[in-house]
Amino acid sequence: MNSKFYITTPIYYVNDVPHIGHAYTTIIVDSLARYHRLKGEEVYFLTGSDEHGQKIEQSAHKHQKEPKTYVDEISKRFKDLWDSLGISYDIFIRTTDDFHIKSVQEAFLKMYEKGDIYKSEYEGNYCISCEAFFTQTQLVNDKCCPDCKKETTLLKEESYFFKLSAYEEKLLKWYEENPDCILPKNKRNEVINFVKAGLNDLSITRTSFDWGVKLPQKLIEKDSTNAKHVMYVWLDALMNYLSATGYGNNEKSAYKDFWPASYHIVGKDILRFHAVYWPAFLMSLGEPLPKHIGVHGWWTKEGQKMSKSIGNVIDPKEVVETYGEDAFRYFILREVPFGQDGDFSQKALIERINADLSNDLGNLLNRLLGMGEKYFNFHLELSEEILKREFKEELKKVQMILKSLEGLLDTLQIHKFLEELWKIFALANTMIAKKEPWKLIKENKEDEVKALLLFVSNVLCKSAIMLSPFMPKAAKEILDVFEKEADSKNYLELIYKDTLLTNVHLKPKDVLFPKFEMPEEEIKKEEKPKKQEAKLPPLEIENPIGVEDFFKAQIKVGEIKEVEEIAKSDKLLKLKVNLGEERPRQILAGIKAYYKKEELIGKQVCVLANLKPAKLMGELSEGMILASKDEEGLSLIVPQKFKKVGSKIS
Ligand code: ME8
Ligand code: MG
Repeated sequence: MNSKFYITTPIYYVNDVPHIGHAYTTIIVDSLARYHRLKGEEVYFLTGSDEHGQKIEQSAHKHQKEPKTYVDEISKRFKDLWDSLGISYDIFIRTTDDFHIKSVQEAFLKMYEKGDIYKSEYEGNYCISCEAFFTQTQLVNDKCCPDCKKETTLLKEESYFFKLSAYEEKLLKWYEENPDCILPKNKRNEVINFVKAGLNDLSITRTSFDWGVKLPQKLIEKDSTNAKHVMYVWLDALMNYLSATGYGNNEKSAYKDFWPASYHIVGKDILRFHAVYWPAFLMSLGEPLPKHIGVHGWWTKEGQKMSKSIGNVIDPKEVVETYGEDAFRYFILREVPFGQDGDFSQKALIERINADLSNDLGNLLNRLLGMGEKYFNFHLELSEEILKREFKEELKKVQMILKSLEGLLDTLQIHKFLEELWKIFALANTMIAKKEPWKLIKENKEDEVKALLLFVSNVLCKSAIMLSPFMPKAAKEILDVFEKEADSKNYLELIYKDTLLTNVHLKPKDVLFPKFEMPEEEIKKEEKPKKQEAKLPPLEIENPIGVEDFFKAQIKVGEIKEVEEIAKSDKLLKLKVNLGEERPRQILAGIKAYYKKEELIGKQVCVLANLKPAKLMGELSEGMILASKDEEGLSLIVPQKFKKVGSKIS
C-alpha cells in the first residue's frame, strides 16, 4: 500500500464563472482524496486557478478591469464555491502566486540550460480561446480552430521554442510501458495516434502581450530583449502541479513526499496538454512522470454544450440548494461511467434521488429504525454466532462486494463502485421482504428478527463507511445512528478486518432523503408520444387526469391504533389512526360489516390525508381510509410490505 497520495484537478481559467463541469472534476478528485485519507494514507489534494494569458487579459479588459483585480475576483469565486461545497483540498494554487512564478522560471531555466529551448520566429495560427497553435492544415474552413471552431489569429513574432519533437519516441515508450498511464484505456490509444502522427516543436513564449510569467532573471540579464517575452500559458499552468509541491521554490517540502502525482484528473478537452506536453516537459526536467492521467467526459445540458452565450450554464450552487450536496455528488458520480459524456437534466437527477437515495438507501434506514424502535426499543444485541449462522451467505456476499470496491477506484470506475455498493442495499431490502419480520415477531421469533436487524445494521454501517468519500454528509448521518465515524480506524476494523457489529444502540434519525416531486414541465416533456406506444391499440380512459391532479391527493400509510363502535350506526367504525403526526387522526370508516375490531388494531392502511375534515353521525372524521368493494365484499387497501407511518403513496 502506497501511503502517499497526490491528486490534482485542472486549475480552472478565471475568465468564466464556475459551473457543474468544473464541479464534476473537483468532486471526483475530492472523493478520491477522501477515499485515500479514509484508508489512512497521507493525501495532498491540489486545485486552483489559471490566471495568465491573452484570453484572461482580454476578458479583464472587456470588464474594464486591471487583470490582477479581475483575476482576484474570479479566482475567489472558485475558491468560495469549493469551500461552500466542502471540497477538502489541501492547497488552492493561483498561477499569480509568487512561489509558483518562481518555480516556473526555475523550470524554464533548467530546460533552457539543457538545450531543450531555443529562440526562433513563430508564424502561425493561434486560437486565443483554447490558447493553442494550429497548422494551416488543422484549421477548419481555412481559418477556424478545430477544437472550439472560433476564428484563429495569424501570429508572427519572435518566440522561444520547446523541442517537443525530440520527445516523440520517449513518449511513445512511456505509453507503451505503462498501460494505465492514461485512463480510461481507449483515451491512451487516442494519444498514441496523435503522437505517432508527428510532433512539432512548441512555441512557449509570446511577445505581443504582457499578462504572463516573465522569463528567468538570468536570461534577461544575459539579453535584455528577453524582457519582452512572457511564457506560454500552458507551460505556466502545467507547472502548477510541480510548483504546488515546492519544486524550485523551497517554501514547501511536499515535493519529496508527493512527487510524482498519483492522478491528474482532467476533462477530455485538455487531454493533449496533459498526456503529451506535460510528460515531455517533465522528461526535459528529469522528473519522474505522473502515475495516471484520468480523463473524464463532457457534461451537456439537455444535449447542448453549456456556454454563457447560450445561457444554459448550470450553477452547482443552485442544484445543491434545491437537492442537497450529497444528492448532487451522487448523481454526477453515478449517472455516467467515467470517461463518457453525460447529459444533465433535472428529470434524471430527481429520478436518481427518488429511486436510489430515497427508496433503496433512505427507506432501508427508516425500516431499520422503525422496527428497531417498535420491537426492541432501539437496542439490538445478539451473539456473533447466531448472526453468522442466520446470515452466513449474505454476510459473505456483502464482504465480497466491499472488498472488490477498492480495485474499481484504482481504475477510476467510480460509477461502478456506487453501483456495486447499491447491490448491498438491495440485498438488505430483499432480506427484509423475504423474512417478513412483522410476522416473525408475532410468532415470538425475536432472535430471528434481531438477527435480521443486526444484519441490516452491519450493511448500513459498513456501506456508509465506504460511501463517506462520495457522500460525506449522508454517510455521517447514517454512521451517527450506530455512533460510528468514517475514519481510518473504522475502515480497518469494519471493512478490512470485517468485524461485525453485534451490540447496537440505534440513535433515531429523521428521513434522510425525502422524495422530490417531478416538476410539471418535466412531466409534460415525458408526455410526448413514444414510438412504441403508437403500436398499442387505443384505449378509452374514463375521466382522465394529469399526474399533477393525482399529486394533489396526499395518500399516506397509517396504522390503526384504536377501534370504537358508534352506537347508532351499523356501518361505521370510529378509528384512531397514527400517521406519524402529533396525535392520531380520528377517522370514520364504513367497514363495520367486514372487519372485526381485533383484526384492525395494528393494521397498516392507506389514508387520504388531505381530505377536508367532515362530520358523520355527529362525529368528526379527519381523513378517509382507502378500500375496494366488489360482489364478494370489502377489502382495505394495505401496503404490501411494512412501511413507516406517514410514508407517502404515489
Ligand atoms: O482548460 N463537462 O481550464 P478550464 C465536464 N486552465 N467537465 C468540464 C466541463 C464540462 N462541460 N467544462 C469544464 C483549462 N470542465 C486550463 C487547465 S490545467 C494545468 C489548466 C472541467 O477552466 C474539465 O475538467 O477551461 C475541463 O478539463 C476543465 O474544466 C477545463 O477548465
Ligand atoms: Mg476550457
